[in-house]
Amino acid sequence: MRIDIITVLPELIRSPFEASILKRAQQKGIAEVHLHDLKAFGMGKHKQVDDYSFGGNAGMVLRPEPLFACIESLQAERSYDAIIYTTPDGKRFDQKDANQLSLLGNVLIICGHYKGIDQRVRDHFVTHEISIGDYVLSGGELAAAVISDALIRLIPGVLNDETSALTDSFQDDLLAPPVYTRPAEFRGMTVPDVLTSGHAKKIEEWNHAQALARTQERRPDLLGE
Ligand code: ADE
Repeated sequence: MRIDIITVLPELIRSPFEASILKRAQQKGIAEVHLHDLKAFGMGKHKQVDDYSFGGNAGMVLRPEPLFACIESLQAERSYDAIIYTTPDGKRFDQKDANQLSLLGNVLIICGHYKGIDQRVRDHFVTHEISIGDYVLSGGELAAAVISDALIRLIPGVLNDETSALTDSFQDDLLAPPVYTRPAEFRGMTVPDVLTSGHAKKIEEWNHAQALARTQERRPDLLGE
């Protein structure tokens, strides 16, 4: 998978791709992430990328010319299976979206900034408008990093057995059960006996019951109730 990200603040999202699982996925050649600074396509001496919105709503909007130029220059190199725009008015991102998008080859993410991007860019290019939650961030960069992480970790070969995505919360519409590691007793607090019993079937049943109870308590909406 290749992810291209268009942003006015590349420095804001560089580091998540330079550490841990996302870094390793790139080193293994399984995923590539490329950041593109929109300011390189800015207009005039000051490389202007934004302007006041028509109609007087307070706040700046990213102009269409730099975005069209940047997107078209990328499209000249390859075609995109999805062009995502990160915005609080988009569809709320969930694990099903991550699963579907992780199967794609070339993904382009446009990060919104200020009051957003000119509607004509959305109408002309964007295939998916995604929000990562019902709150407003100061830009789409962190959302783009969140989405990229959620996609890349699902690509086969990125995670090893210990970090397998199959046991994640949400993969079976259940939250993950509690987990414990060594020591079996710490400051008088013990690990549930079943987990140290070595009894695989009982452990699986316990995990499922715990996942169900946790989901019932915290996220009954996931159980369709
Ligand atoms: N940009 C600002 N807030 C956002 C959000 N919640 N999701 C995606 N992009 C955003």
